[in-house]
Amino acid sequence: MTQRRILVTAALPYANGHIHIGHLVEYIQTDIWVRFQKLRGHKCVFICADDTHGTAIMIRARQEGRSEEALIADMREAHIRDFAGFDIEFDNYGSTNSEANRELCHEIWAALRKNGYITEQSVTQLYDPKAGTFLADRFVKGTCPKCQAENQYGDNCEKCGSTYSPADLINPTSTLSGATPELRSANHLFVSIEKLHGFLEEWTQSGEHLQSEVANYLKGHFLGEPLRDWDVSRPAPYFGFEISDSPGNFWYVWFDAPIGYMASTKEWCQKHGENFDDWWRDDKSQFSDLKSEIHHFIGKDITYFHTLFWPAMLKASGFNLPAKVHIHGFLTVGGEKMSKSKGTFVQAATYLKHLDPAYLRYYYASKLGPRLDDLDLSLDEFVDKANKQLVGGVVNIASRTAKFLGGKSLCETYPADGGLFLFAAAAHESIAEAYERCDYQAVIRTCKELCDRANTFLDEKAPWTLAKQPDKAEEVRQICSIGLNLFRQIVVYLAPVLPRLVQQAGELLGAPITRWEDAQSPLTGTPVANFQHMLKRVELKQVQSMIDDSKPAELLTWVEPPETSAPAAQSPDGPEALEKEPLVADLCSIDDFTKIDLRVARVVSASHVEGADKLVQLTLSLGGELRRNVFAGIKSAYTPELLVGRLVIVVANLAPRKMRFGVSEGMVCAAGGGGQEIFLLSPDSGAVPGQRVH
Ligand code: 2FM
Ligand code: ZN
Repeated sequence: MTQRRILVTAALPYANGHIHIGHLVEYIQTDIWVRFQKLRGHKCVFICADDTHGTAIMIRARQEGRSEEALIADMREAHIRDFAGFDIEFDNYGSTNSEANRELCHEIWAALRKNGYITEQSVTQLYDPKAGTFLADRFVKGTCPKCQAENQYGDNCEKCGSTYSPADLINPTSTLSGATPELRSANHLFVSIEKLHGFLEEWTQSGEHLQSEVANYLKGHFLGEPLRDWDVSRPAPYFGFEISDSPGNFWYVWFDAPIGYMASTKEWCQKHGENFDDWWRDDKSQFSDLKSEIHHFIGKDITYFHTLFWPAMLKASGFNLPAKVHIHGFLTVGGEKMSKSKGTFVQAATYLKHLDPAYLRYYYASKLGPRLDDLDLSLDEFVDKANKQLVGGVVNIASRTAKFLGGKSLCETYPADGGLFLFAAAAHESIAEAYERCDYQAVIRTCKELCDRANTFLDEKAPWTLAKQPDKAEEVRQICSIGLNLFRQIVVYLAPVLPRLVQQAGELLGAPITRWEDAQSPLTGTPVANFQHMLKRVELKQVQSMIDDSKPAELLTWVEPPETSAPAAQSPDGPEALEKEPLVADLCSIDDFTKIDLRVARVVSASHVEGADKLVQLTLSLGGELRRNVFAGIKSAYTPELLVGRLVIVVANLAPRKMRFGVSEGMVCAAGGGGQEIFLLSPDSGAVPGQRVH
């Protein structure tokens, strides 16, 4: 088999949010594909990066009172940790805010200019005079010009479904500052992709690069008319790269994001002594016989960017075109859109606190096909598949055989098994083809059949019964050698899906699994280690806790404090009675403790309180838009400047308390006795606002 050179990318996650189970559909899908290619012996490089630029990040950094660089650095750390937690293994994880990316943007821009693709046009947009920035559509709200529904976003009405320009909104307000936006014009730079219409028609419709439904969608929706010029610049202020020959203008985030694929490849090349052009410009390189294949994996929402703009940019600037763009559908949970209030908007880190990543990798694989259908996560089915197929099917083959061979070795000659091993070995081609076309459903279906055959064999032979008879030791060894080889064969086929199981199977049977061909010949004579537990069954209550943990703090019911509450010292029994209370009354049960909802929060702003000696006023972010106003008696130890941007722990369900200066909606936790001796509690870096503290 000739070794292919395959460059694979997954969409670059935005640096303004955490990885959640919706994102994971794609990263797991791609990671499986990459692991499959590597197992087959191809040279395959998996590239990703954080997508760091744009208005949303700039605004969020402002709201959190820190620099964009600080925000994206934190998010990068969290993304990398989340991916690693799910065994998603990139060969390089870059950032679009890197020098490599800046250089490539300039290079591609110069080529586009030189080849006559750039035009300049005036664009009129809403501008927020208070925040000093142009407003993207979703930062404007107002009354729908069609149906008069209030509080609608700048580009479409949720009530009547109509789309419009934000300039048409009635009584528009900026969601950033509350100011009334004004219309302002600025010159923007555009890429004229219509010049490449013929090429895009050919490339998208060739049947080689896109799924057929994508090709048809593009033909039906875009290619039947002239392609509109693409606006690729934004005026300052904008977090991104300034355009060299257009000072005061920045490349729009979607211009530099896909170039981030290249920049991250370049970093990988530098680390591994590889030549960048061999991957992205090999038509012109001297190694043209080593042609590389570029495969992008994306979700269907960003089809246009990857199947029209991006190929156009690559073509216009002389780089390789993708061999394939693999597009998947969205995730629904229980048949509905992921919902924060229902707790189904589960972040990767929250999942990992409760469940093993193997369950989700296996579940998604069992649901992913080669088309763009949405994938539904049904929690019952998730538990069922994990327990019946993965633990009760695959792992069970090992757990019911290995214990009889622990400390011994597999038979020196593979025993007669009625053709089971050969049957499974012959399935390798169809399984490989299914992986190649991203039909993981088919892979899992076949492996499940192989598991059923192996388990039926063991049920019939019942080594656990024979093991009680000393004269049957050799027979037990033979049955278990067969069972363990069938197990290993299935683990080879599932290796791209279940990397930890591959490791465990290698350790158990004294031979690591490293190649696809490992499924073709049985292992003989290798030592069998004592069986170590591989994967636990899932309890529905673990899944339920994960869902509960994903519900936002804002859903907690707030109990208004009583108007007057009698202080303890004035209770009818007097203070002495309290002192006599047995100590046990002060203990708090776990149930009492869990009533206290402690959350991570970030100090967004802090100020002195006029007329208060001890207080500072804090605005805390508990994730997303959720804010709390808290008066904290920590002024003797912290000035407001010291507080902005830092993470604290807040009691999020404390009943709001009316104070002379306003209502305090929570309490920050601190140690120490007062005065200078106040020490705010902070989580380790990586914690995120809104996370529950246990
Ligand atoms: O849709 C998104 O999440 C984008 N951040 C994907 C960018 S992919 C690539 F073009 F960089
Ligand atoms: Zn409307």
